[in-house]
Amino acid sequence: MTHNLSERGEGLVAAPPLPEYIHAHLDRKDDQWCPETNRDGLISLCVAENKLVWDLLEPRFAECRRLEAYSIGYDKMAGAMPFREVLADFMSRTFIGRKVRPDNLAVFNGAGSVLELLFYVLCDPGDGVLVPTPSYTGFWADLETRDEVEIIPVHCSSEDGFALTTDLLDDALAQADRPVKALLYTNPNNPLGCVYSAEEVDEILSWAEANEIHVVLDEIYALSVFGDVEFTSGAELRPDMGDWLHIVWAFSKDFGLSGLRSGVLFSENERVLRAVDALAMWASTSGDTQSLLRQLLADEDWVDGYLAENKRRLGEAYRRVTEVLDSYDIEYVPADSGFFFLVDVRPLMDEISWEGEYRLWRHLLDELNVNLTPGAACHNGEPGFMRLVFTSVPTDTAVEGVHRLGRYARSLASA
Ligand SMILES: Cc1ncc(COP(=O)(O)O)c(C=O)c1O
Repeated sequence: MTHNLSERGEGLVAAPPLPEYIHAHLDRKDDQWCPETNRDGLISLCVAENKLVWDLLEPRFAECRRLEAYSIGYDKMAGAMPFREVLADFMSRTFIGRKVRPDNLAVFNGAGSVLELLFYVLCDPGDGVLVPTPSYTGFWADLETRDEVEIIPVHCSSEDGFALTTDLLDDALAQADRPVKALLYTNPNNPLGCVYSAEEVDEILSWAEANEIHVVLDEIYALSVFGDVEFTSGAELRPDMGDWLHIVWAFSKDFGLSGLRSGVLFSENERVLRAVDALAMWASTSGDTQSLLRQLLADEDWVDGYLAENKRRLGEAYRRVTEVLDSYDIEYVPADSGFFFLVDVRPLMDEISWEGEYRLWRHLLDELNVNLTPGAACHNGEPGFMRLVFTSVPTDTAVEGVHRLGRYARSLASA
């Protein structure tokens, strides 16, 4: 072959980093369930998107859709200053819990890109990063594909509600077969949909400080807390984040704007900021999108009203979906934040194994036309827990999807 690709190019062709459930989701996107026209259609409850708020955003976007001169030319690739200033104010005011300086922010096209760039500059190929599991599925693609970092999973167990403890972290660190550079920790947690208390976050941060490793705290769901709990940012607990604590956030979740591709790194490590800035050219958020988001955030009253209504809707959707699960006696790990929670699907499996979980996932997809996030994709330590996203479709659709699961569970029970 004369026009072959590089080894890494061929590697990407042979093993694309996106998991199978996402391919299944994208392949079937045109077969959406509709009670009138497509009663057997797909109900996709697997991708963490918030489709419950567009009616709030659309009129506001229509108001601020004005192209600004500063946004159409080259600017700082890690975010134009007018945008970073508004973003810093917004973050200080809403979830960071203290003053954020615009100089300490770097904006890229989504949290995924922020993570990819950040780990590129924190780690060398082969370095280890601790990731508690069950986890957000995308961290493996973000860290391992180009950065060549090795994720060391820290498996939390269903027996104690998937709690993350410093004992588990100690064990993972002691058993690591490579230098561990960082802990990547998500609060509120994806896929558990739970907020770690200030005490819990503090304990994890102290552990990392004592072990002298970086902490990357992914707070992308910070403003999507619907339960009776309080979110505390790591930046509030460590007013001096030093060189080791870095916070990630994005517009993708709390504002339901995953397609606009805008995420942000908040770090007080000058060298980290300079290093990611050197790579920013390849991961910028377009000037037009920055301008739009700047205008969106500038109206604080609108932002506050939006955030309150978003929380109310998340809570309402969670309540409606879990009520249906309750009515079929299907167990799940209760949630207080985010767009999802874990369903205990062990009673639906023909055997408790990874193969059994995969067979169930395929059956739900192929026969019920319901796509859940398999536990294996969340790198769970044990088979039998799938993530159900309750905000990726209108709540009536999610409810119909849960009825399909419930009817299937009943058919098994009565067989
Ligand atoms: C915890 C977490 N981090 C990062 C991302 C990626 O976000 P983005 O779409 O902004 O790249 C997601 C998306 O699901 C997520 O759940």
